[in-house]
Amino acid sequence: MTARHFLRDDDLSPQEQAAVLDLALRLKAEPFALASLAGPQVVALVFDKPTLRTQASFAAGVAELGGFPMTVDGALAGIGVRESVADTARVLGRQSAAIVWRTFAQSSLEEMAAYAGVPVVNALTDELHPCQALADLLTVREHRGPLPGQTLTFLGDAASNMAHSLLLAGATAGMHVRVSGPEGYRPDPAMLARAVEIAGTTGGSAISVDDPAEAAAGADVLVTDTWISMGREAEAEARAEVFGAWRLDQAMLERGADDALVLHCLPAYRGKEITAEVLDGPRSVVWDEAENRRHVQKAVLAALLDPGVLGEPT
Ligand code: NVA
Repeated sequence: MTARHFLRDDDLSPQEQAAVLDLALRLKAEPFALASLAGPQVVALVFDKPTLRTQASFAAGVAELGGFPMTVDGALAGIGVRESVADTARVLGRQSAAIVWRTFAQSSLEEMAAYAGVPVVNALTDELHPCQALADLLTVREHRGPLPGQTLTFLGDAASNMAHSLLLAGATAGMHVRVSGPEGYRPDPAMLARAVEIAGTTGGSAISVDDPAEAAAGADVLVTDTWISMGREAEAEARAEVFGAWRLDQAMLERGADDALVLHCLPAYRGKEITAEVLDGPRSVVWDEAENRRHVQKAVLAALLDPGVLGEPT
């Protein structure tokens, strides 16, 4: 049987995404309800870029599912340098029940999935960060109720993995997703088009809005992320010059709904993309959001290993 993967947000249909979020909520209440990795079976956690939340939440989640997390340092392994992605996939696939990989190009991840023979999960690429987007949706659902019809605005680098994933995942959930970034930092047209296409089937919408204040107006959820994603450090100075108007500060927050939530995938740079007042303020749910990584990732792993664990979405 061909392994099922989670490489992109839209690898989950709207029904599957809702069922994954239901399962995540159940696992949050009952952390040991599923022993999908009993044995313990091994899950390879492979990192080509820095990590804190992703490594910690996957390692903890794999352990809670009864498995063993095997961390692989991508620099030591030299994936795609010392050994091809395809050969690495064949080797890791023989040692593990699933592979979780944080890397640069989405195309490398697709190659890993083509050769691994076991489920592969996207733990962040330059293009997408679907596990984080699922955690964001779970956090919104917990704090603000059912997702369909809610408006989520992303401010900052709208060409980033987080903006793209929120477009796809939010549209899948039937939300109204607005992303806003300066010229040169607007979403990949193919990602936006795919989000619009999905939204057409879920009653949501997806749009890139040039003016950040307009994008934030009335939003139920305001999201931002670093202006300088991993791998873009050389552009730090140039970026700092153009992103100022997209900062999530108190004035921007007040443009949103009265009870708007604030999300940030972290790490956060206080005073840059978000002020300390907002990040550490009463509307911010970033610590719940970080915790929720574990719950959604457990649900994704369990569902990839056995789709039967997903019930009918509520
Ligand atoms: N856009 C950020 C997300 C970090 C979790 C990055 O790629 O560095």
